[in-house]
Amino acid sequence: MSSSRLLVLISAIGAALVALQWKYNQGYQLLEETNSSNRNHTGDLEYECSEKPHHSSWGTWLHPQRLWSRPNGQGAGTTTKDWNILYHLGGNGPWVEKVADVVEGGVAVPDGCIVEQVHMMSRHAERYPTKKAGTRMRNLLERMKKSRIEFTGDLAFVNDWDLFWSDDTRLAQLTSTGPFSGTLGSFTTGVRFRTRYEHLVARALSRPNPTTLWASDSHRVIDTARYFASGLFGIDWKDVASLDVIPETAEMGGDSLTPGDTCPAYIEDETEGWAKGWKTMHAYRATYLPIARTRLLAQNPGIEFTDDELYAMQEMCGFETTVRGSSRWCDVFTQQEFLHFEYARDLHHYYRAGPGTKYGAGLGFLWLNATVNLMLEGPEAGPMFFSFVHDDDMAPMLAALDIIDDIHPLPLDHIPEDRLWRKSQISPMGGRITLEVMSCAVETQGHVGKDNFVRININDGVTAIPGCDKGPGRSCRLSGFAAKVRRKGVEVGDFREMCGLPEDAAGRITFLHQ
Ligand SMILES: *[C@@H]1O[C@H](CO)[C@@H](O)[C@H](O)[C@H]1NC(C)=O
Ligand SMILES: *[C@@H]1O[C@H](CO)[C@@H](O)[C@H](O)[C@H]1NC(C)=O
Ligand SMILES: *[C@@H]1O[C@H](CO)[C@@H](O)[C@H](O)[C@H]1NC(C)=O
Repeated sequence: MSSSRLLVLISAIGAALVALQWKYNQGYQLLEETNSSNRNHTGDLEYECSEKPHHSSWGTWLHPQRLWSRPNGQGAGTTTKDWNILYHLGGNGPWVEKVADVVEGGVAVPDGCIVEQVHMMSRHAERYPTKKAGTRMRNLLERMKKSRIEFTGDLAFVNDWDLFWSDDTRLAQLTSTGPFSGTLGSFTTGVRFRTRYEHLVARALSRPNPTTLWASDSHRVIDTARYFASGLFGIDWKDVASLDVIPETAEMGGDSLTPGDTCPAYIEDETEGWAKGWKTMHAYRATYLPIARTRLLAQNPGIEFTDDELYAMQEMCGFETTVRGSSRWCDVFTQQEFLHFEYARDLHHYYRAGPGTKYGAGLGFLWLNATVNLMLEGPEAGPMFFSFVHDDDMAPMLAALDIIDDIHPLPLDHIPEDRLWRKSQISPMGGRITLEVMSCAVETQGHVGKDNFVRININDGVTAIPGCDKGPGRSCRLSGFAAKVRRKGVEVGDFREMCGLPEDAAGRITFLHQ
């Protein structure tokens, strides 16, 4: 080889190396810029986009009624470094990550562990208001329009605002427009799970039987499961999976995904049962809404709003956001008033179906017990179990787990800043609790072996179980977890007895198996 040729070759290699280095640096810089651990998962609309190069910018989600710039009003709808309205919607708004009381390190599987089995209980994705709530909103708007008042101040926008649904058949169904639509949300969750658990998908596909998913018999719940399955298995998911729809009706007894509907004592007990949530929430909201009422009355002396109406306005902030991407109703209130609203919703949920009702843990034990049995059965039981339900079915399961375990019952006279029970983060629309069984290499007395651990992921915030968090990533040893759940079973007693059901009613879940 001549020396000049050698020179050319050397410079070519050099150039290639420089190019590689440059590319590497570019990649590195990109990583640095998008390092999400530098941020606190605010879910912040405008900034989050920079972490999603594959997403279109928010500005292209052009819903005709979406407002991109607007007067701030009382300011609750504005997003700043310290304030994100999505965290204060009490479960009426888009899915957000749990950020309070989470294990550091994110959802990455701890070193030395692999996920062997995954169980999920999920609320349906973003939906329109229920018929009842939607009727309250419609009635409010009609009363305002019929008053023939030309609104001023924070309500001036109402003069040319219209409801975010035109057809009442949409009520209670998944939303299907905007960046926070329920259809998109549930499909995306399926894709996320495929990304995270591709090895389990492969294992499921290698089994002779199709993978069963479960949904309680409610249109929005079933739709959520179907979009999820499309994201997980692909659009032809029915070739490899099947959806088992479990009736929500009373005769199911304990063999139900929605035991709140099948437990007569819980439904009829006005003091300690289901009604406790409404009562507590009503009492609490009566303490903070008068200030807003007085302010709005000063701006528009022709009309005075009731608690029900003011509360409906706060609810519309979340619901309209899941349809149009934003809502003017948020700015009718102060940030402080939304902190109160958030807490009112916490109380509602906590006392209706969570640790605040004596029935909570007993209702939630059914699914938890069936799930622990699958964990103990091991890989032969199957790799993946996905159940779709309502938020009233998530709260009992958490109560049975004792995982969001406030020391003191939630008080009515102030907002405990350090409370753990935050409905907005526990069960937003699309909220989900994932229980992973991990097989991990562990050292016991100088000997390296394997053992199984359970890790709980609540809306992508890994959450430790108080008293059982010594495993990798603060997980709980499966044997300890199972023992804990069995103890809970003794504590809550027989489901039929608690509910006042006859002895021949079903006392446990039988359908949850692959
Ligand atoms: C991301 O940020 C954290 C904390 O600032 C830092 O420890 C970590 O090294 C960063 N990761 C990358 C890839 O830059
Ligand atoms: C974000 O996290 C950092 C460190 O983890 C903390 O110092 C800061 O106060 C947090 N910011 C907010 C707004 O929570
Ligand atoms: C809980 O699981 C155990 C073990 O399979 C079973 O004997 C018991 O009936 C179950 N109870 C309920 C309420 O699911």
